[in-house]
Amino acid sequence: MSEEEVRKGLAGVIADYTAVSKVNPESNSLLYRGYPVQELAAQKSFEEVALLLWNGDLPTPTELADFEAFERANRALDVRVKTAIDLLPLDCHPMDVGRTAVSVLGAAHPQAEDSSPEAELAKAKSLFAQFPAVVAYDQRRRRNLALVEPRADLNYSQNFLWMSFGEEAAPEVVDAFRVSMVLYAEHSFNASTFTARVITSTLSDLHSAVTGAIGALKGPLHGGANEAVMHTFDEIGIRKEESREEAAARAKAWMEDALAQKKKVMGFGHRVYKHGDSRVPTMKGALDKMIAYFDRPEMLGLYDGLEQAMDEAKAIKPNLDYPAGPTYHLMGFDTDMFTPIFIAARITGWTAHIMEQRAANSLIRPLSAYNGVDERHLG
Ligand code: COA
Repeated sequence: MSEEEVRKGLAGVIADYTAVSKVNPESNSLLYRGYPVQELAAQKSFEEVALLLWNGDLPTPTELADFEAFERANRALDVRVKTAIDLLPLDCHPMDVGRTAVSVLGAAHPQAEDSSPEAELAKAKSLFAQFPAVVAYDQRRRRNLALVEPRADLNYSQNFLWMSFGEEAAPEVVDAFRVSMVLYAEHSFNASTFTARVITSTLSDLHSAVTGAIGALKGPLHGGANEAVMHTFDEIGIRKEESREEAAARAKAWMEDALAQKKKVMGFGHRVYKHGDSRVPTMKGALDKMIAYFDRPEMLGLYDGLEQAMDEAKAIKPNLDYPAGPTYHLMGFDTDMFTPIFIAARITGWTAHIMEQRAANSLIRPLSAYNGVDERHLG
């Protein structure tokens, strides 16, 4: 096989059709089932977006009310999951906790081995409702705080923040969180979604596919980038007393030095978007609101300084993880909980793709070009 036929990283390879979302790098646009993600983020709840991704259309008022009632009734942390989490060390990565929790939820689900479309949708809805408690409880146990029980009078985003912090979040914070969930929900054949589809293509079960997807999402070249962005901010140093301009100058100097050392700076660049990530302006709008709400202009200075220096040196644009990281930080989440929050959002997209893959399945099994030693014999 010749060199040219090997497409390393599958770059540029179209592996299948999908009707779930359309990424258009030329126009920097992203459509979920035909709707621009910016419009959904401006007008729709995360619950509505989940139903859109699964069903192909926005829900009727009755469908939405039924799903909201189901979600509110299924939020409590499963006792088996809590037991499994409590067995895990406090210094393990929270993505390991998320991965383990989904595996336990799969083993415990009464329809675990039923892959009918009805069972798959039921399992997707259960995971959607159950996962926030995993993230919230894991953060609390690491802070030596007790589990907070869910509240059925709150919507998904309000309740996620309630279970995480044990107090009701301000409407501004709830809205920024909702926007992040909508933007993180789906993004075509990214590495974790493709992983989920590969696993599904062997006719394995939905929870196995999501567990594998979480493993792919953990890496800093994918979802782990939102945490890595915060580590960059921490390395530069967050100084609350500093002005926006002072922070921007320090951030610029840091970036110039990092690029001179040929470092890859997380939160910038994208395999598909080469002129900017379609989701960034909306997420940056949410970050701006958090910066104003918490009165933290120095965070904007750090953000702008890094972005400008990267643009001047390499013209590489930020991706969604760049504004999402500092947004979650301002809300009060610990840095290593950022990627588990991404899981909670992407469960929607992954499970929509799992159902799509199963409905028109073909085993995903590429070829490889051998470049090892020539045939030899044992003598
Ligand atoms: N920091 C510094 N340089 C970067 C960069 C970054 N974040 N992203 C890309 N580049 C540079 C590469 O070093 C390469 O330079 P070279 O041609 O001099 O070697 C050039 O830009 C092309 O990048 P490449 O790595 O080929 O792009 P890719 O499509 O393979 O990679 C990513 C895409 C996302 C893996 C890459 O941009 C990256 O590692 N970004 C940081 C991780 C991140 O934020 N991931 C979240 C994605 S949503």
